Amino acid sequence: MHKVINIGLIGFGNVGQELARILLEKQQGWAAKESCTFQVSAISTRSRGALVNRQGIDLKRALDDINQSGSFNIENPDYKLLTVDDLINLDFIDVVIEITTLNIINGQPAADHIKNALLNGKDVITANKGPIAFYYGDLQALAEKVGQILLFEGTVMDCTPVFNLVRETLPACAISGFRGILNSTTNYMLTEMAAGESFEAALNKAQEQGFVESDPALDLDGWDAAAKVAALMNVFFNAAITPPEIDREGITAISRDDLDKAKQAGETIKLLCEGYRSGDETYGRVKPVAIPITQPLAQIQGTSSALTIYTDLAGTFTIESYDPQIRQTAYALISDLFAIVRHSRQL
Ligand SMILES: NC(=O)c1ccc[n+]([C@@H]2O[C@H](COP(=O)([O-])OP(=O)(O)OC[C@H]3O[C@@H](n4cnc5c(N)ncnc54)[C@H](OP(=O)(O)O)[C@@H]3O)[C@@H](O)[C@H]2O)c1
Repeated sequence: MHKVINIGLIGFGNVGQELARILLEKQQGWAAKESCTFQVSAISTRSRGALVNRQGIDLKRALDDINQSGSFNIENPDYKLLTVDDLINLDFIDVVIEITTLNIINGQPAADHIKNALLNGKDVITANKGPIAFYYGDLQALAEKVGQILLFEGTVMDCTPVFNLVRETLPACAISGFRGILNSTTNYMLTEMAAGESFEAALNKAQEQGFVESDPALDLDGWDAAAKVAALMNVFFNAAITPPEIDREGITAISRDDLDKAKQAGETIKLLCEGYRSGDETYGRVKPVAIPITQPLAQIQGTSSALTIYTDLAGTFTIESYDPQIRQTAYALISDLFAIVRHSRQL
């Protein structure tokens, strides 16, 4: 039977707009092949206005208006005064997608958006690390209690399978640790510095390409990486840890000289993200580390990322993502949407 999934988007920035472009491009094919339509029926933003139409918003017009004026057009018949709480309360919304800005201090208000959506009987998808890094245990317990689904594949390594890989393929395995390169900006800068650029020049080049956080300290001081380590530890180890509890050191003290010296010793410096569990003890760390050039993680260049996972039964394996773009983050939301559709068909 053909299924229409009504979606409410909280946030319509880079990720939300790319999601809209993918839906415009691919929706027809999925409708035929997968017998389902993902219909965006409400969008709420902080400052660009809101749109609601239970028959589906005209996404092309929404994108055109944002491109032309930076906001939704008040002349659009779908334009409404709609708060996030209003959106969460709309009875025709099946899935809420939370894609607001990361708050590294406490994960709010995104965590409350997710909690309220679950309490209102919505499944929830997010690419926002904050709620998973600060409140995963509580939010997952709530989702289970109210019988809804919470998915968050885009929070770490965009759409490269991390959480769904563990969920779907390692059901009987215990994960004892992980080690990876998870922050694009710092890995790009360390790659450029290893090739001879100064710290400042490498940062400028990264900023010109648009992938540095608007507050660069989030990347350079290791906060984004710490949020990802906390999210992975919460999901893999049930660690109930938060980003400030991760042992964290950024790359601001690293110079081109340090990279030159590492090279002479057959090593390179990477901002390593690690999490380990032993019994009830867990430990998470983000730190620039010199690693032998022969190790797989030393080969991860530029904005690429990688994660090695250590398990008891499936052994040790590494997944890599090559130079991910915004499309890959938006696709993570689509892959979570399909997971929800498939789950509901199995019920
Ligand atoms: N960009 C990436 O490559 C990437 C990759 C992985 C994960 N993520 C995560 O995905 C999320 C979205 O990223 P993005 O790049 O799309 O961010 P963005 O361009 O800054 O867009 C954020 C959107 O959220 C809205 N918003 C912020 N606070 C809000 C609030 N309190 N209530 C309602 N709307 C609110 C903003 O409204 P206004 O438009 O009015 O400002 C904007 O539309 C972030 O959590 C980010 O960390 C992003």
